[in-house]
Amino acid sequence: MAGVGVHGGGRGCAGDAAAVGVGGGDPVLDAELAAAIERRHTDRRPFGDERPADAVLDELRAAAGRHGVHLQIVRDDQVTAFAGAVAHAGEVERDDPRFRADLRSWTNRAHGDGVTTHSVVATTRRTVAPRDFALKAGLAAGPGSDRGTVYAIFVTDGDEARDWLAAGEALSDVWLTLTARGLAASPISEVVEVAGVRNALRGLLGGIGNPAVAMRIGVPVQEDAPPATARRSPSAVLS
Ligand SMILES: Cc1cc2nc3c(=O)[nH]c(=O)nc-3n(C[C@H](O)[C@H](O)[C@H](O)COP(=O)(O)O)c2cc1C
Repeated sequence: MAGVGVHGGGRGCAGDAAAVGVGGGDPVLDAELAAAIERRHTDRRPFGDERPADAVLDELRAAAGRHGVHLQIVRDDQVTAFAGAVAHAGEVERDDPRFRADLRSWTNRAHGDGVTTHSVVATTRRTVAPRDFALKAGLAAGPGSDRGTVYAIFVTDGDEARDWLAAGEALSDVWLTLTARGLAASPISEVVEVAGVRNALRGLLGGIGNPAVAMRIGVPVQEDAPPATARRSPSAVLS
């Protein structure tokens, strides 16, 4: 975020993933992003017919750019290839016991963080298939079509720990910015978790940069937000 600086562990904070400090940034934007924190939820439901405005997409590119990360919007003529890559990654992961164990460890957890059944959406026709959490769906798909949904890929120049951390910062900044502008999103990370699929995605992007994570972004069609996910206490994640 603009006002809360996160600095990578590789840059002098031994043992920790990151150090967090407050300061800098544009106070108006900081206030908008701070207000978006409580409203931001992963929304896996289909979004509306209307495409996010170009001016807002430019703002999202700028949000990623604040962290040195490129936000590449998948072109219409690339969406089918992107959807194929997502589906293939899902199949590879379903066949791999290590991925299945990882998924189990992050779903339906005792203290309610991670992914819960309440936020998993009932099956409906989708352009890009949502991740299969192997959970009973607790959320209705609603009337959305996903026709206006855009698919974006966070791309870094390097491919080291500091680049992955920058991509995480960019994801946070983009997500709060789009929330502040009335849009909704959910991440698509399986495409970068399977090495062969991540390489194919690199090819789709023209061989420039390293895909870190992808995201679907759209105009929500329902007033109600998906149920909030439980948070750990600050003392559990900060020292
Ligand atoms: C590293 C990481 C990867 C994730 N990948 C996905 C994904 O590919 N698809 C998805 O629907 N949720 C994914 N999630 C989960 C959610 O986006 C989110 O963290 C979780 O459901 C909590 O919900 P909230 O964002 O509403 O607080 C991922 C979470 C993490 C930490």
